[in-house]
Amino acid sequence: MSASTIERARPHMTSLTTELIRAGAIRSREWTHVFGDVPRHLFVPRWFQQDQNERGITVWREHRGAATDDDLEAVYRDQTLVTALDPDTAERVDDTAWTGIPTSSSTLPSLMAGMLEDLTVKDGHRVLEVGTGTGYNAALLSARLGEHLVHSVDIDPDTIRDAREHLASAGFVPQVVAGDGTRGYPEGGTFDRIIATCSVPVVPAAWIEQSEPGTIIVADIALGIEGGLVRLKVDDRGRAAGRFTTTAGRFMAARSEAKKYPPRQGPERAPETGTLPSAVSAADIRAHYAFRLLLSVSLPEAELVYHLDDAGNTSLQIHGPDGSWARAALAGDHAWTITYGGDPGLWRQVEAAWLWWCKAGRPSHDTFTYTREADGRAYASYAPDGSRWNLPTVRA
Ligand SMILES: C[S@@+](CC[C@H](N)C(=O)[O-])C[C@H]1O[C@@H](n2cnc3c(N)ncnc32)[C@H](O)[C@@H]1O
Repeated sequence: MSASTIERARPHMTSLTTELIRAGAIRSREWTHVFGDVPRHLFVPRWFQQDQNERGITVWREHRGAATDDDLEAVYRDQTLVTALDPDTAERVDDTAWTGIPTSSSTLPSLMAGMLEDLTVKDGHRVLEVGTGTGYNAALLSARLGEHLVHSVDIDPDTIRDAREHLASAGFVPQVVAGDGTRGYPEGGTFDRIIATCSVPVVPAAWIEQSEPGTIIVADIALGIEGGLVRLKVDDRGRAAGRFTTTAGRFMAARSEAKKYPPRQGPERAPETGTLPSAVSAADIRAHYAFRLLLSVSLPEAELVYHLDDAGNTSLQIHGPDGSWARAALAGDHAWTITYGGDPGLWRQVEAAWLWWCKAGRPSHDTFTYTREADGRAYASYAPDGSRWNLPTVRA
């Protein structure tokens, strides 16, 4: 990339940094300098933007990093840039557009900045990043701490090869390795900070083993219905505890295969049983992230999906682990009626969580805490009334 491209990028780098400060994502002088200095376009020579093609199909439109002024400007917008698609699902639909499941991206800069601030790194800290992706975040960390203190792992060897090239073009050589980051980076010893930019269902044991007392972990915990970013402090007995952070955002899931997500297998769905009145609407569920987070800890084995019927009406549908399901329309005359199959108790639990949340004064997501005990048991809790929700122990 030529020096003149860097010069063309400078005003965009400055305006993105200013935008991130205004949004409250960058909160310190240190990160202001780093975001102003590390050119993002070096990390996204090829990226995909969500678009609708002329047939109304949602596609990923391919762009070349800084090929045109418009591309360059787009790279410095506060947006996620998808950089890889699962080759098994990716299909070319026209000259520049693909369908497919994203498997890597350059994270939304405001989310990245918020997480880096939440990580509270200090000079001399050794950091492990799980989910190298483009290498941009590893570069930001290298600029802040020095490349010798930064370690980053990605499951996809090709992503790692590209990330190394991007990092070198920006002048950084941190330790960047291919591997399953849910096992941490055992060769790297212990870390003062661990940041994950792919989600995990539980905090993996390896991350605790590779921590010191006082290590801070910032990661996205994915529960079936929702999930959220937590900032956990590891104590001298191997317990990690802390709050869901004010910074809100979600990441693609950690996977065990380099290029794709294995197909999910759920239980067989129960046949439709009937309808019931409901105390909570689908619109409520969609509107309130904090409530969805509560729902995900109350029903940690349930999933929430969008359902589109033949007439084009959209509903929210909850799937229970036993094949029960319940569906509520997002709009229209039947917003307070659910259709269900199997056990109606599934929706009753949704209503009970809604009533609890309303009675508690609709607490925000960052009032909830998350704890992983040294033996792997995990739970969420709400300190004001001592409520606690045990989460299933999943191997990660
Ligand atoms: C959102 S991207 C990371 C963005 C990146 N931090 C950046 O600055 O560009 C998520 C990355 O997690 C990686 N990933 C998925 N499962 C993983 C796993 N088990 N271990 C390590 N990386 C994983 C994906 O390959 C993908 O590159």
